[in-house]
Amino acid sequence: MHGLIFVTWEKYLHDRFGDELLDRYRTALGETAASSPLASRIYDDAALLSGVGTANKLTSMPVDSLLWEYGRYFILNGLTSHLCAYLLTQVHSGYDLLLAMRDAHAQMRRVPGGITPPLFAYEAISVSPRKIALVYDSPRKLCAVLWGAIEGSAERYGERVQIIEHSCMKRGAPVCRFELHFSSPMLQPRERLETPEQIAQRRNQHQLANLILSVLPDDGGVMLTEVQKLLQPWQLHPNQARPRAILEALQRLQHAGLVASTANQPGDDLTHRRYWRASTRDSSAKMEESRPVQPQENNDDKSSGNEQNGTKRNHTLGDTLAHTGPSRFAHTLKFW
Ligand code: HEM
Repeated sequence: MHGLIFVTWEKYLHDRFGDELLDRYRTALGETAASSPLASRIYDDAALLSGVGTANKLTSMPVDSLLWEYGRYFILNGLTSHLCAYLLTQVHSGYDLLLAMRDAHAQMRRVPGGITPPLFAYEAISVSPRKIALVYDSPRKLCAVLWGAIEGSAERYGERVQIIEHSCMKRGAPVCRFELHFSSPMLQPRERLETPEQIAQRRNQHQLANLILSVLPDDGGVMLTEVQKLLQPWQLHPNQARPRAILEALQRLQHAGLVASTANQPGDDLTHRRYWRASTRDSSAKMEESRPVQPQENNDDKSSGNEQNGTKRNHTLGDTLAHTGPSRFAHTLKFW
């Protein structure tokens, strides 16, 4: 299970039950500062089950209530919002987020390391555009987390969602099947709540992430200092060229499953960690992948050529989410 789940789980315990409970929880699990979970690592599923069991004993809250609250918290908390920003800032409603998560989870599965987020199936059940059935069949049977995450998704975008459970694996059904009815968003669209500076910052961060994605190699990987060098020809604004900004963009791309790294390999540390572009195709269907975009090709005529030839990576998630081809955003970046 991905470290983000473990880190946000402990954050949930802290925010919900306080310092003292979290200390007792860590002591009960024999966790020390050195062994506390990291969002960049991958851990055994068994560790989460044992953590949930321990929290159940310490709080006397039923396991399903803890998992439901955690699912909601997972979607709403600041760390997920920060690390998963590449995904979360590209959708504008809870309904759209839910629909995007099949492909987004599928992309995360392609990153080496073997994480297996759930692949939902969706079924149309009504002519109403915001009514849908969702089928969940993860062997982890974390439908309580799913339920909370769906409610958290609606809340995140100021919507309400009505959930009717038609079948559940925990009661012997082959799959969990939920009927969902999302209300229209109640709040103003996020873009209208943000200041112009916040909008510009969000867009710049997204463009930087896309540019980094275009210069990374498809295998072997490069270290942070090498990524900086690869970006030099684009003459980024000094704020964007700082290692911290690049690292943040790399983390966000990793949490979207678009970049892989050596984070889980023995001897890894942040300085020597290597990053490369994750495939956007399943290994059985990989096609030949192309060279990264060259900065000197960055003019209008050639950029359209780039989109057809240079970035022919058969994007699925990258394409759907990125909207802008690397050649176009490289041009924009020069003028920050
Ligand atoms: C509508 C929104 C979402 C729903 C309903 C949802 C649902 C779930 C559920 C139920 C799980 C538990 C694992 C399982 O069932 O096998 C899970 C795992 C996970 N989700 Fe999502 N998720 C959503 C959004 C996100 C977002 C925005 C991210 C951002 C990065 C994300 C990343 C992950 C990761 C990393 C795991 C752990 C998978 C593993 O380690 O195998 N999810 N998700």
